[in-house]
Amino acid sequence: MARFSRIIGTGGYLPEKVLTNAELERSIDTTDAWITERTGIRQRHIAAEGEFTVDLAEAASRQALEAAGLSSVDLIVVATTTPDRVFPSTACLLQSRLDIHGGPAFDVQAVCAGFIYALSVADHFIKAGTANTALVVGAETFSRIIDWTDRDTCVLFGDGAGAVVLRADDGPGILSTHLHADGDYADLLHVPKGVSTNLASVQAGTAYVEMSGREVFRMAVQKLGELVDEALQANGLERGDIDRLVPHQANIRIITATAKKLRMPMDRVVLTVAEHGNTSAASIPLALDVAVKRGDIKDGDRLLLEGFGGGFTWGGALVEWRS
Ligand code: ACO
Repeated sequence: MARFSRIIGTGGYLPEKVLTNAELERSIDTTDAWITERTGIRQRHIAAEGEFTVDLAEAASRQALEAAGLSSVDLIVVATTTPDRVFPSTACLLQSRLDIHGGPAFDVQAVCAGFIYALSVADHFIKAGTANTALVVGAETFSRIIDWTDRDTCVLFGDGAGAVVLRADDGPGILSTHLHADGDYADLLHVPKGVSTNLASVQAGTAYVEMSGREVFRMAVQKLGELVDEALQANGLERGDIDRLVPHQANIRIITATAKKLRMPMDRVVLTVAEHGNTSAASIPLALDVAVKRGDIKDGDRLLLEGFGGGFTWGGALVEWRS
């Protein structure tokens, strides 16, 4: 009998503090009109001092577990670019918070495509019969790797966490996942320092996101367009067969280009970019959680989840929704 993973619970958490475009106007040379027009972002949430990635992950995970009616899972995978410690992984810290013990727990690092990577890994564990249940989390305190004086990057990002619980089922579920990377583009979107290259700069908090925005934009549109074709082809589907797009929320113009590729009207696209900004690995599960809680997603809907990020990394998951 075929074995699928089904999403049986979602959760999301955003830090309390909201940073609006109007507030950014007061600290850097920018305008609300420029940010809104170029990105679609109106505000973002920022973690409080002393509030860390695992705190955000825990809040989202508790909601997802409650929605799933589970208190434990066989596997925990956390997608994050902003872990609390060099080690142990944020997944291990989260496992302890949730009083879950003994099963595998690890982090996946694929920046804004991180949640898709984590979802794919967990899906493969479940399909292989290695796990029956899994908690998959995207959690970021991206504000900590942003230079808040750099207008090219600081207007784009925010903090947050989203989570899903998967359970093995004999029907879909996740229909397919598609992962890609091309490390030749590493320098176009990166934090140029790391543990082995200069730990002191990381500790001093001077290792920040650097981005060639136009090139990232162009490649994101191209690769996500190719991904749409790949996901449809793998499932023998046509463009009109997808009911909802749940995209990574980096920029409304990238999202619009992907929707156009799907020939999908924008009212079928889950949009949180205006309120959340780009929360990197958290943005897709956060958007999914918002749509689920709003009651936008109906039984039998086919969803395309997709993301593109540093690496470059990109990927997608085609999901048939069962409530
Ligand atoms: N406010 C006002 N002006 C600004 C700002 C700002 N915040 N930032 C840049 N500008 C200026 C630039 O200096 C430039 O001025 P110039 O023409 O005098 O040189 C002008 O605006 C236009 O800049 P562009 O870079 O051409 O603007 P563009 O239309 O490309 O928009 C943006 C920039 C929004 C960054 C866009 O390129 C983009 O969204 N790129 C993709 C970014 C992305 O998705 N990154 C995340 C990927 S996910 C991850 O892995 C982290």
